[in-house]
Amino acid sequence: MKSLIVAGNWKMYKTRTEVTAFFNELTARLENQKLGEVTPLICPPYIYLSECASIAGQSNLKVAAQDVSMHQFGAYTGEISAPMLRSIDIGYCLIGHSERRKYHDETDDRVRVKLLKLLENDLIPIICLGEKEEERENGMTTRIITRQLESIFKDITINEPQRFIIAYEPVWAIGTGKTATPEIAQEVHSLIRGWLKSNYTQEIAEQLPILYGGSIKPDNFHELLKQPDIDGGLIGGASLKIDDYWSLLKTAIPIAEKLQK
Ligand code: PGA
Repeated sequence: MKSLIVAGNWKMYKTRTEVTAFFNELTARLENQKLGEVTPLICPPYIYLSECASIAGQSNLKVAAQDVSMHQFGAYTGEISAPMLRSIDIGYCLIGHSERRKYHDETDDRVRVKLLKLLENDLIPIICLGEKEEERENGMTTRIITRQLESIFKDITINEPQRFIIAYEPVWAIGTGKTATPEIAQEVHSLIRGWLKSNYTQEIAEQLPILYGGSIKPDNFHELLKQPDIDGGLIGGASLKIDDYWSLLKTAIPIAEKLQK
């Protein structure tokens, strides 16, 4: 049995009415759906987190923040901290998304500090990595991914690998319609797993979920999920419509059932 995570990243989309309608519909559908080893997760914009967590309630649906402050508390206007997320029962948070890196100066060092804050406050980090188009074209993918892993995981202890998630998101594939082929994605996922094995243990490498992200659609998800080192998806555009997200979730269920890890 393979565990799979189907994570929707809503970025800065949706009004409150749209968010609550989606969450009500999704939780209603989930009541009658056996998920097996599949975990649905949505990252709505910050202001809806509380309401989303309360609609998700005791269902299997997990709610994640899209970013977190590097600080615990303090004079940081506009920021939201890990203890605040914890206090409203949010258990997951994205860090290092390429849009945060591009528009908000998120560096690997900052991602590492945010990672520490999430761990201190008992939240599960979803750590985004990925190379830019020119880096891939110049044959630098392995070097970039390894450097990101080395910086972000510097002196980080992993006791419970299932309380970490890595998302490999090639920057050239995000929002562009250019999905990495299953082979390209698998190659990088295997590199990440190999790095975890060399720097931690075989067990940690096997158990830490690694998601792929970048122009996932209902019609390409199946082939990606069949790759041995892909443990789910981080999905932007195709997670915004309930029927598309539902179809992604339904794609994952039989694959999780069939594939042995
Ligand atoms: P996309 O976004 O699926 O729209 O390419 C993925 C992401 O940004 O996480």
